Amino acid sequence: MAGRGSKGGTRDPRSRSRGKHVRVKTARGRKLSSTRWLERQLNDPFVAEARRLGYRARSAFKLMGIDDKFQILRRARRIVDLGAAPGGWAQVVVERGSKNMKLLGIDLQDIEPLEGAEFLKMDLLAADAEERLMAALDGPADLVLSDMANAATGHKQTDHLKTMALCEAALDFALKVLAPGGAFVAKVLVGGTESQLLATMKQNFAVVRHFKPDASRQESSELYVVAKGFKGAAGNKDRG
Ligand SMILES: C[S@@+](CC[C@H](N)C(=O)[O-])C[C@H]1O[C@@H](n2cnc3c(N)ncnc32)[C@H](O)[C@@H]1O
Repeated sequence: MAGRGSKGGTRDPRSRSRGKHVRVKTARGRKLSSTRWLERQLNDPFVAEARRLGYRARSAFKLMGIDDKFQILRRARRIVDLGAAPGGWAQVVVERGSKNMKLLGIDLQDIEPLEGAEFLKMDLLAADAEERLMAALDGPADLVLSDMANAATGHKQTDHLKTMALCEAALDFALKVLAPGGAFVAKVLVGGTESQLLATMKQNFAVVRHFKPDASRQESSELYVVAKGFKGAAGNKDRG
């Protein structure tokens, strides 16, 4: 079972798959999109590896990939995980983070308890969200993670706007809560951070990079923005 002390190895699980492709027949009452989803899950080596190692979600491998590249977890003491359900990223934070770190995760959904993490069921977009989060955090954060995503509507433009709104809310929150030198990681969509959002990140962080971890599906337009070296309140430029 993945947890504190277990190894969060990022050996590419695709090397384990032996090229067998499971086909799923369409069944009465099942939509074509559901059949495709099922087939993809059954053939996804990251899904199999997550199950084998006890991770709650294949997305755990995305955070491992980000951390392997940018080393964001080892030294962070206070960490916020926005959109934390079912808890895959939180498992990786607990494994790789320092022993005395504090991890606070929030989500619209309930999250099964995890040793070393505290979870709150809440909506980041709610009026009192930031206040509640800051009270629970009890001090400035070193790292704000956001893997928040809306349930896909299938309408590309709508999904894009919704995801970017979540990213913006996460960045707004990060700018208020991060300690100088802190880091911010958020899920974005290709083309989504080219404008004001990216400019705000560049003004407020020493380093801003886009990164697509191996575990992020190639066909997905998802990628992650990683911003390090928060300049602090003095360097905090308004989002105007
Ligand atoms: C891709 S999942 C996160 C997976 C998680 N990183 C893991 O490894 O288990 C995206 C999550 O974002 C959450 N979410 C979407 N909008 C949100 C909001 N406004 N406030 C809090 N959570 C939100 C969803 O409920 C969903 O559980």
